[in-house]
Amino acid sequence: MKKRKLCADLEVSAIGLGCMGMSEFYGPTDDDESLRVLSRAADMGIDFFDTADTYGPHHNEELIGKFIRQSGANIKVATKFGIVRKPREYTREINNSTSYVRQSCEGSLRRLGIEQIDLYYVHRVDLNHPIEETMETLVGLIREGKIARIGLCEVNEETLRRAHAVHPITAVQTEYSLWSRGVEDNVLPACRELGIGFVPYSPLGRGFLTGRFQVDEEFEGGDFRASLPRFAHGAIGTNRRIADVIATMAQEKNCTSAQLALAWLLAQGDHIVPIPGTKRLKYLEENVLASEVILSKDECGVLEMAIKQLPIIGERYTPEGMKGVNA
Ligand SMILES: NC(=O)c1ccc[n+]([C@@H]2O[C@H](COP(=O)([O-])OP(=O)(O)OC[C@H]3O[C@@H](n4cnc5c(N)ncnc54)[C@H](OP(=O)(O)O)[C@@H]3O)[C@@H](O)[C@H]2O)c1
Repeated sequence: MKKRKLCADLEVSAIGLGCMGMSEFYGPTDDDESLRVLSRAADMGIDFFDTADTYGPHHNEELIGKFIRQSGANIKVATKFGIVRKPREYTREINNSTSYVRQSCEGSLRRLGIEQIDLYYVHRVDLNHPIEETMETLVGLIREGKIARIGLCEVNEETLRRAHAVHPITAVQTEYSLWSRGVEDNVLPACRELGIGFVPYSPLGRGFLTGRFQVDEEFEGGDFRASLPRFAHGAIGTNRRIADVIATMAQEKNCTSAQLALAWLLAQGDHIVPIPGTKRLKYLEENVLASEVILSKDECGVLEMAIKQLPIIGERYTPEGMKGVNA
């Protein structure tokens, strides 16, 4: 597996593993199969696992903790704090208060069964607390050896610069893919300028860009996508044309749509490490091979131009979810 430097002191596999779907959001889960996926990922050289305390809550961290204990695998764990939810409910609060951050960190360390979190992200910025205050709390956790590095999710450029002025940020994690390119305006250039890594989440558009969803797709009970505007029945028909463009170029490149979507992200910069999510071995094995697919600048341009001409129906979150992004 190829490696990439997210920042000066963090080198990881060029493709990481998003573990969220092993606990919830995308239909039924099976812990035994998820443990096999985690194990196979480590065997294939993926050493950057992404989780959060709110996934499950807290099932995802417990699952990864179990995997680490059972396997002793040498992986880098990225986890997150700040989204407070009750089990099986999507309604949430954002909390970045010092006492909550400290309590969350202790909980994550305990569930993961590790002494230090390799990368600790602010999952969502809490507008009741200045980012400088949150950063000071996190710097305290670094001094105590409980976390090694700090990351930020879904921040705007100003918040990123203010945070980075307090302590170097290792990575920004925000949704980024062929149908969600908002970060290209300000955040991605700022990351490049400041030497901050970028971790695109939902790099496959929550599975949409792989072309697997049909116009009349019925999502299984509890599948979060059923609530998302881009996956609404009225939107899927139009949005599917984006997946069709990707499928056509994938065929030309002799790869799958998922591999092409990931290869396009990898081609956007050496500091970019996508974290495709899956709970299935077959998808994992397919996605890992994306690092072998090389897209030239011209090929990226053709793909971008073809997609640019198509409308994208719907925001990436509900109005409530959109309140937490670009903060
Ligand atoms: N910071 C944040 O706010 C935030 C938000 C969302 C996600 N994340 C992180 O980012 C990770 C990745 O994002 P994501 O899981 O939301 O979206 P994603 O990686 O874009 O897509 C995941 C979906 O695509 C499917 N899939 C994966 N590989 C496939 C393939 N080769 N062919 C067909 N379908 C495929 C998966 O199926 P199966 O489920 O059937 O395996 C799953 O339903 C998450 O696991 C999580 O760790 C962070």
